[in-house]
Amino acid sequence: MSKLWGGRFTKETNKLVEEFTASISFDQKLAKEDIAGSLAHVQMLGECGIIPSEDAGKIKLGLLEIKKMIENNEVEFLVEDEDIHMNIEKLLIEKVGSVGGKLHTGRSRNDQVATDMHLYLRTKTTELITLVESVQQALLAQAKVNVETLIPGYTHLQRAQPVSFAHHLMAYFWMFERDKERLIDSLKRINWLPLGSGALAGTTFPINRERVADILGFETIYPNSMDAVSDRDFILEFLSIGSIIMTHISRLSEEFVLWSSQEFQFIELDDSFCTGSSIMPQKKNPDVPELLRGKTGRTYGNLMGLLTVLKGLPLAYNKDLQEDKEGMFDTVETLEGSLKLLAPMIETMKVNTNVMRKAINHDFSNATDIADYLVRKGLPFREAHEVIGKIVLYAIQQEKFLLDLSFEEYQQFSSLFEEDIYEVLAPEHVVAVRNSFGGTAPEQVKAQIELAEAKLGK
Ligand code: ARG
Repeated sequence: MSKLWGGRFTKETNKLVEEFTASISFDQKLAKEDIAGSLAHVQMLGECGIIPSEDAGKIKLGLLEIKKMIENNEVEFLVEDEDIHMNIEKLLIEKVGSVGGKLHTGRSRNDQVATDMHLYLRTKTTELITLVESVQQALLAQAKVNVETLIPGYTHLQRAQPVSFAHHLMAYFWMFERDKERLIDSLKRINWLPLGSGALAGTTFPINRERVADILGFETIYPNSMDAVSDRDFILEFLSIGSIIMTHISRLSEEFVLWSSQEFQFIELDDSFCTGSSIMPQKKNPDVPELLRGKTGRTYGNLMGLLTVLKGLPLAYNKDLQEDKEGMFDTVETLEGSLKLLAPMIETMKVNTNVMRKAINHDFSNATDIADYLVRKGLPFREAHEVIGKIVLYAIQQEKFLLDLSFEEYQQFSSLFEEDIYEVLAPEHVVAVRNSFGGTAPEQVKAQIELAEAKLGK
């Protein structure tokens, strides 16, 4: 059989053009969605009397058979048939005869492909929400056993104030919570139905778009056919949410790379998540978090790619739009692969509580607390800051930490110091007194964990 659109042509398509314009190598990933859309369309055509219901029945059976064949890998898609839509239509006509040619009544590939992608992203978005949740579960599980584990908290990657390790992990929980909210919210717009818009201007047949929306589970019907066939905002939105998710994954991965280094040794990644070096026998490399960090780049690229494709396009459909797919698939697959690895990597990591603890005993991250101590004794904060600065400088010169200085030494800097200064400086105390809502005190972290569990519970 020749091209489905061959009537107007007197020459064969140039082979290179055929290959260049074909999308079947990648859009075959939409086969399931394409058939679902066609099944809904043909059902509606039959019900509205646009084609005889007997014909609709034959087409339906044919489509179901093709679906099975595709599932069983029995179909060989052809570049000559350009894309998934024409490949399936051609298979259908081969299967059920010329009646198959009635499927495309009142429809165009333009509203068809847009519908396929809406359906595809709806499924993937829903699955990704679950995968994001599995990472949240892993973070939560580690947080729950590490409420009292103390780790240096950093600003500028300089030790700042000690924090609960759970608090640090839970920061990522909330990033992923917002990601999940974004994915859920995007479903509202993914759930707009393009089908029934025709090539760009609607159709002359008395179709029933509500019925198709109903069958396919769409909430809204695009009210403008030109918008419907050229809108790719829902993909942009997905690529942008995906980029934000990968940003969060990348930041967490960077922490894992740092923490598992010889310099930090705060955690040890499970052997099953690391690889060795082909030359240096001592090495255990954090390849997984490194790759997670690295893969973030391609998701940004996919977003920039599609933004650029869209920016100068006049209405309505243009072939440029075919370039919307590979980046979308790539971001979906990158997210799936990354989230699936991240959750078990978090679950299986070993937390070196003692090393973290030792780090805290060997820094000045309790300095703010002596300043606050003097403030509570009546000294203005700025003056207290100055006094503590001098104490820190003195301690560094003496090669001591704040807890090592004698009471006499403290007295030299201010007569406001009393014996209770040592309690104030103890790391547990430093953490426990940051008891404001959202702070790192164990009491607050426990409340935070409860809130997080409630979020996951619903
Ligand atoms: N393969 C095309 C795409 O992905 C389908 C729509 C083609 N429409 C057309 N008028 N050429 O965009």
